[in-house]
Amino acid sequence: MTDPKDRPVTPEAKPDDRVDHALRPQKLTDLIGQDQVKENLAILIAAARQRGEALDHVLFYGPPGLGKTTLANVLANEMGVNIKTTSGPAIERAGDLAAILTNLRAGDILFIDEIHRLGRAVEEVLYPAMEDFALDIIIGKGPSARSIRLKLPRFSVVGATTRLALVTAPLRARFGAVYRLDYYDEAAMRKIVSRAAGMLKVPADEDGINEVARRARGTPRIALRLLRRVRDFAQVRGTGQVTREMASAALDLLQVDPLGLDDVDRRVLRAIIEKFSGGPVGLNTIAAAISEEADTIMDVVEPYLLQLGFLDRTPQGRVATRTAYAHLGFAYPENGEQPRLL
Ligand SMILES: Nc1ncnc2c1ncn2[C@@H]1O[C@H](COP(=O)(O)OP(=O)(O)OP(=O)(O)O)[C@@H](O)[C@H]1O
Ligand SMILES: [Mg+2]
Repeated sequence: MTDPKDRPVTPEAKPDDRVDHALRPQKLTDLIGQDQVKENLAILIAAARQRGEALDHVLFYGPPGLGKTTLANVLANEMGVNIKTTSGPAIERAGDLAAILTNLRAGDILFIDEIHRLGRAVEEVLYPAMEDFALDIIIGKGPSARSIRLKLPRFSVVGATTRLALVTAPLRARFGAVYRLDYYDEAAMRKIVSRAAGMLKVPADEDGINEVARRARGTPRIALRLLRRVRDFAQVRGTGQVTREMASAALDLLQVDPLGLDDVDRRVLRAIIEKFSGGPVGLNTIAAAISEEADTIMDVVEPYLLQLGFLDRTPQGRVATRTAYAHLGFAYPENGEQPRLL
C-alpha cells in the first residue's frame, strides 16, 4: 500500500479496476451495509416510479472507495434508465456540458463524479438545466446576439464528491437528496470480503476473511484490493488457502497494520508527533514534511484517522491524540518533553 498509485483517488484505470467493475453490486438488495442510505434510496426510487417521474437529483459524498459510483449505477438499474458518466474535470467548457445535456433522454441519469471540480462557467449552465430543465444558449455575436432557451427532457443528476465543502451552495441547493456515505462497520466488511472471495473463487476460511475485513479501513475498494494481494501471497507462499496466518503475513508485508493504517497514514501521524511535537500543525505543512499531496491527506488519510480518534482537527491545525501516540508506540509527552518511543 505504499505505492501512491494504489490509493483510491488515482484517476487512471488499472487492471484491478476492471475486476472491481465485475464485482460491483447491480441492485439495491446486492448492496451490503449503508442501511440508512439504502432505505432512503428505496423510498426515493419507489416514489419516482409510482409517479412515473424522473428521479430527483441526488448527491453522494464521503471518502473514496465507499460506493458512490456503485450507488449511481444501482440507481440507474433500479429505475431502468440509461446512465451517462462524466466527471467535474472532464467537462472543460460550457459547450461540452450542453452537448451532453442535449443527448439525454427523459429519465436518464447523468452521473457527475468529482462534482466539486466543475468549472464556474459549466456550473452556470447546470443550474437552469437542473432546476427548469432548460438550456440557455447565445446565438450570434455583438449587438445582434440573442439568447434562446432550449427545453431539455426531465433527467436526473447524480453527483459524487469526496469534498462536500467544495460544492458551491447554489449547486448543492439544487439536489433534492444529499446522502453521506460512511466507513463500513466490521460486520458489513466481512460480508463484502466474503462475497468478493466467493465471486473471485478465492479459497478462504472465515478467519482469513475476517482478517482482511478488519484491516481494510472500512472501505470496500481497499478490501477488494487487499483480498487480491492476500490471494497472491497465499498462492505463492502457501497452499492457496487464505487463512488468518496467510492474511496476516501478507498484510504485514504490505505494511497494512492491524487497524488498517498503511505507510502513508503512519507517516502523517509520525510527522505530527516527531516533527511538530504532536501539533497543532497545518495540513500543508504536514504534506510538505512527508512529500505527499495535501489533497490525498485530506481525502484519504484524515477521515480515517479522525474516525479512529487518532487525530483532532482544531482551528490551529491537526493534533495527534493520546491514542495515536500509543498506537505508534510513543510515550505521550507530559510537560513539553521530546517525543520518545516506548
Ligand atoms: N455496499 C457495497 N457492497 C458491496 N461492494 C461494494 C459496496 N460498495 C462498494 N463496493 C465495491 O467497492 C468498489 C468501490 O466502490 P465505488 O467505485 O463505487 O466507490 P466510490 O465511492 O465511487 O469511490 P471513488 O470516490 O474513489 O470514486 C466497487 O467496485 C464495488 O465492487
Ligand atoms: Mg467512484
